[in-house]
Amino acid sequence: MARYKIAWLPGDGIGVDVLDAAKIVLDKIQLDVEYIHGDIGWEFWCKEGDAFPQRTIDLLKNVDTALFGAITSKPVKAAQAELIPELQTKGLTYRSPIVRMRQMFDLYTCLRPCKAYPGNPLNFKEGIDLVVFRENTEDLYAGVEFAPPPQELVDVLSKISKPFAPFAKLSVDQYAISCKINTKRGSERIVKAAFDFARRFRRKKVTIVHKANVVRASDGLFLEVAKDVAKQYPEIQTDDANIDAMTMWLLKNPFQYDVLVAPNLYGDIISDLCAQMVGGLGFGCSGNIGTTLAVFEPTHGSAPKYAGQYKVNPIATILAVKMMLDWLGETEKSARLENAVAAVIKEGNMRTYDMGGNANTLDMAKAIVEKT
Ligand code: IPM
Ligand code: MG
Repeated sequence: MARYKIAWLPGDGIGVDVLDAAKIVLDKIQLDVEYIHGDIGWEFWCKEGDAFPQRTIDLLKNVDTALFGAITSKPVKAAQAELIPELQTKGLTYRSPIVRMRQMFDLYTCLRPCKAYPGNPLNFKEGIDLVVFRENTEDLYAGVEFAPPPQELVDVLSKISKPFAPFAKLSVDQYAISCKINTKRGSERIVKAAFDFARRFRRKKVTIVHKANVVRASDGLFLEVAKDVAKQYPEIQTDDANIDAMTMWLLKNPFQYDVLVAPNLYGDIISDLCAQMVGGLGFGCSGNIGTTLAVFEPTHGSAPKYAGQYKVNPIATILAVKMMLDWLGETEKSARLENAVAAVIKEGNMRTYDMGGNANTLDMAKAIVEKT
């Protein structure tokens, strides 16, 4: 029996292209591993009315980790229209499989390292090395949404909330409500994850990102819990910033920051910003980490227009493989892989279109493999 079982979840669009590149790298690394393919993605929505079928959920219960590519998603009505005719009348709603996966398996840490590898022509500035910890299961992603809001909710809100009163006069088809739910437990464990990381890797500072000056209840709770957790790590500098100011300061002086920790939606936003500063989505990698399972993925989407062209940059996915190796405890292999990626970037002979070259996805992976 192989030492590890890895669920292989290409999804669709360029998810397939980049996972083919990841396979080239993993084959060279020679892990003792069994890869098990999982059905996930747009195709299964259209044919089965579920982009994340139960058999794939069951597969994830029986593996050590998973590598995920990307999935196309479309707005609710457009998604409905692509269902096979037999499913059209069933009233199914499309929900993002990756968001479901994060919640279903309690993958509460979204870890997004953003490092400017020397010589990358897309670096905003050389030397940037930021790490984003994004809460991955709650906040505005909780999925508690109402469009239209039910009358019971409208009644409650109009009684308890003065600012809500003008909306309550509208008919319910004129507005929608999405609940931002942040728990003490959820906030505490992500902030702890960020500080534990900072302690382990001797990072100097953790910045708590929020909007507690306006979103007083939920972000107020997040900030309060985070400040409490910070007390357990006196050797690590802590500060906090509002999400809006944070985007500005990050661009103004990225070197002032180190580890960032944020509730789900702010983490989503800030991690795209940080990824762009180190080369864009071709370089953004992501770990969705829980206590027993972790799923690794590139941060980019499925880019359907490039699907199957083997044109996109596989480095984001190869760096996700590096994170996966770390998580498995294969640190020597992980370091070797990261050095190889860094060497190829620095040499600059092999560049995909986003980097100003015309290298193919798989050739880029092969060039990286040659340096391992
Ligand atoms: C991400 C993506 C996802 C998210 C989408 C694809 C649902 O933007 O992983 O950052 O919003 O979390
Ligand atoms: Mg995102």
